[in-house]
Amino acid sequence: MDILLSKHFEYLNNDLHVENVSLTRLAKEIGTPAYIYSKAEITDQVKALQKAFGDVLPEGRQPRFFYACKANSNINLLRYLNEMGVCLETVAVGEMHRGLKAGFKGSDMLVTGVGKTHKEIRTYLENNIYSLNVESIPELERINKIAGEMGKTARVMMRLNPNVEGGAYDKISTGRAHDKFGLSAPTIIDNYERADLKNIKFIGLSMHIGSQIETTQSYLTGYQVIAHLVGQLRDKGHNVATLDIGGGFGIQYKDESLLDLKRVAEAVRDVIEPLGTEIIMEPGRYIAGNAGLLLTKVEYVKEEGGRQFLILDTAMNDLIRPTLYDAYHAVVPVANPHAEPTSYDIVGPICETGDTFAKGRVLPKMQEGDLCVIQSAGAYTACMASNYNTRPLLPEIMVDGEAYKIIRRRQTLDDLFEMETTI
Ligand code: LLP
Repeated sequence: MDILLSKHFEYLNNDLHVENVSLTRLAKEIGTPAYIYSKAEITDQVKALQKAFGDVLPEGRQPRFFYACKANSNINLLRYLNEMGVCLETVAVGEMHRGLKAGFKGSDMLVTGVGKTHKEIRTYLENNIYSLNVESIPELERINKIAGEMGKTARVMMRLNPNVEGGAYDKISTGRAHDKFGLSAPTIIDNYERADLKNIKFIGLSMHIGSQIETTQSYLTGYQVIAHLVGQLRDKGHNVATLDIGGGFGIQYKDESLLDLKRVAEAVRDVIEPLGTEIIMEPGRYIAGNAGLLLTKVEYVKEEGGRQFLILDTAMNDLIRPTLYDAYHAVVPVANPHAEPTSYDIVGPICETGDTFAKGRVLPKMQEGDLCVIQSAGAYTACMASNYNTRPLLPEIMVDGEAYKIIRRRQTLDDLFEMETTI
């Protein structure tokens, strides 16, 4: 059976609680399905990051964390992270606007992405974004031109593609030579501080090799490649003031061993810190992933073809990761965790076989109307949801001790139809 993945989730009198709030009570008050987040878990994860690197790196040489808000971009969450002193990594102009609404200044945000449009670049420059992380030479030239038209100087990091393996799945590995991201070292050397690019200030290099990285070795190899490039650029007289060494820290999805952050911090201390640059990191999933649960109800228990199906009221449109990546998400019941272990195929109501969360998963025996939670739903879950089958987006709830707040209300059918009928 699956385990609980946060110390802030606990069975009290056979009823699963997030911090001090009963999920049975929450389901009654707000309905299902819904995303539930633990503020204490988010706080712990930010502190764990600060401590892991703080303990190993010398004083005054701590990394700056730019939370990759693609993982979970709820404005209330962003506001809280702002209070905790975390900055933002964004990948689209909408994310930057979320950041502004949450109280971040443009200079607290950086922006990545291979397809920045003219309009987006203009908006980033208007907002004095800390850095545009550049992924191609045509983009670099476009930024230079737009900055010139605006009478601005664009701060830029060149994104290195270090050609290393990283990331749990092929679809979320980003640092191999054949991936669409970043630039090779020779291309960066040829273009860094190019004399004709008068409206660009090259502040340094960035890199992000993938997501849900579970081995220190991928980080170490990536760090060695970027450090070598810093040496080559400096030998040519270039200034490299900042290194953004990406995110990707893997989290626990089941009963497996975790990435040892202390060893990643040691790799940063040994390879990156001696270069004397400002150090930036972009964790997303690590901060939010295990703070979230998808609370759902069993609509039917169906027995057919020798299998037992748990048919839930949530579906692949609310949590796409199992369908898209074959990702594992732990599932546990809200009540009666000690009932007889039973094997289930856990599915949603959508008319596709791909709408399956788990096959042959052992859970305590469940009945129609019982509640359960799908874990690790704090990152890449609400933000990847869709309206497929005209299913409204779910509410997001932030639990804080004894209290909870609805930080996004449930979408209504009227919300959905309005976009089509008011035209
Ligand atoms: N920085 C850059 C440039 C990125 O592209 C990403 C994630 C991050 C930072 C943050 O990575 P994290 O620390 O969260 O691993 N939808 C996929 C994950 C896609 C990640 C894309 N880039 C999933 O559900 O697993």
